[in-house]
Amino acid sequence: MLPGLLLLLFLTTACPVRESVGVALPEGDVGQVQPQAPEPQPLPPDPTPAADTPHPQETPPPIDAPAPNEPLGLFLTWRQDPTTTMVIDWHTLAGVEADPPLRYRQRGLDDWTEVRAETSEFPFSDREIHRVELTGLSPDTAYDFRVFEDGRTYYFRTLPGTAQEPVRFITGGDTLHRREWMEATNRAAMQYDPDFIVWGGDLAYADGLEDRVERWYTWFEVNLQTLIADDGRVVPIVVAIGNHEVRGGFFMGGDRGREAYEDTLEYRRAMAPYFFSLFAFPHPQAYGVLDVGDYLSLIILDTHHATPVEGTQTEWLETTLREREGRPHLIPVYHVPAFPSHRDYNHYFSSSIREHWLPLFERYGVELAFENHDHTYKRTAPIRGGEIRSDGILYVGDGAWGVGTRPVHDVEQTWYLDRAKPIHHGIVVTLQGTHRHLLVFDAEGNIIDEYPQTPRPR
Ligand SMILES: [Fe+2]
Repeated sequence: MLPGLLLLLFLTTACPVRESVGVALPEGDVGQVQPQAPEPQPLPPDPTPAADTPHPQETPPPIDAPAPNEPLGLFLTWRQDPTTTMVIDWHTLAGVEADPPLRYRQRGLDDWTEVRAETSEFPFSDREIHRVELTGLSPDTAYDFRVFEDGRTYYFRTLPGTAQEPVRFITGGDTLHRREWMEATNRAAMQYDPDFIVWGGDLAYADGLEDRVERWYTWFEVNLQTLIADDGRVVPIVVAIGNHEVRGGFFMGGDRGREAYEDTLEYRRAMAPYFFSLFAFPHPQAYGVLDVGDYLSLIILDTHHATPVEGTQTEWLETTLREREGRPHLIPVYHVPAFPSHRDYNHYFSSSIREHWLPLFERYGVELAFENHDHTYKRTAPIRGGEIRSDGILYVGDGAWGVGTRPVHDVEQTWYLDRAKPIHHGIVVTLQGTHRHLLVFDAEGNIIDEYPQTPRPR
């Protein structure tokens, strides 16, 4: 029923995003924060890197023993076009079988095809990761698969080759302080039958540390239990990196100086050992682009965690955006917000994103970006050139899927904010053709925001 309602809402509001923008404050009223304020150049450590580290008492309890012939974790994502490919990861105890077979078939056909997985180590763990990438699939098509010959048959669906039919994904971030919070938002998300989920960092809060491996066990178990539909459809997930994937939070964090950074996978693995083992994408950098048919490019970025914002990543971003200029949906997703709803607007990390990335977003046609890290819900006014403009970019976030929420800036006093609320949430993004609609739900399933709004605010 809900997807039907969503479709109805979408179809009745299918107007260009920019037409119904309400400007929150008159131009020139900059409230508490000033975009023109000089950006601090010194590089301080994040003043709050440990503040959102879960208290020890919030560490999830050990998980139950796995059922026989069921994976300990199952994770679907992409590193190539989601209309014709799929990456399937599953986890088992080490030594069960190296390079085991995965069996798959197009739904409705009899014969199974068998492909061998590549087995790799799950860091600091008695587990292994088995990974298969299926390519040459048909768009908008269901495929059955089994990771154990006598185990459950799951299935996935490739994304449509065009956006003539609605494509729906759900985004958010900061997923696991407490298991029950993540479970609640996952379950609310599944009411919308998403084609996939995008999480913008701070996933299991293991901080790359050996003694926090069980947080990843819990993260995968929660997904196994809540993001597989009753009929066996597994929802693919695209992730970005956050500070809680990285030892010390940032590439210059901990006892590392800024000068110590090396642009190598070995260096990044040492900082974020789980992230670069558990996720096929983004890899081997912590940034990358997923082109979905000819209608969507998801640009996953690294906000100073395993990679500096400036330099190589920004050069890559410019090339990537330039090559995709004119695509109907060109959507960056990243962790630290350019327009924070809780933290200081002038903090180095946010300032550097605004300095290096926003001019590129504005030059190459980005209309919408997703941010996280502040543990609130926020939606900005449309922003271009440091001011509110009807042709500006909307920044939506701020990462409160399954974590403790934080106080928000006063919307009336903060020039860039249209909405801000400390609440667990997910953001449903529906694309159809060149149209785009956002619907935001809380963990109880209530709709808490919509853009464009229906009916339009009076
Ligand atoms: Fe964070």
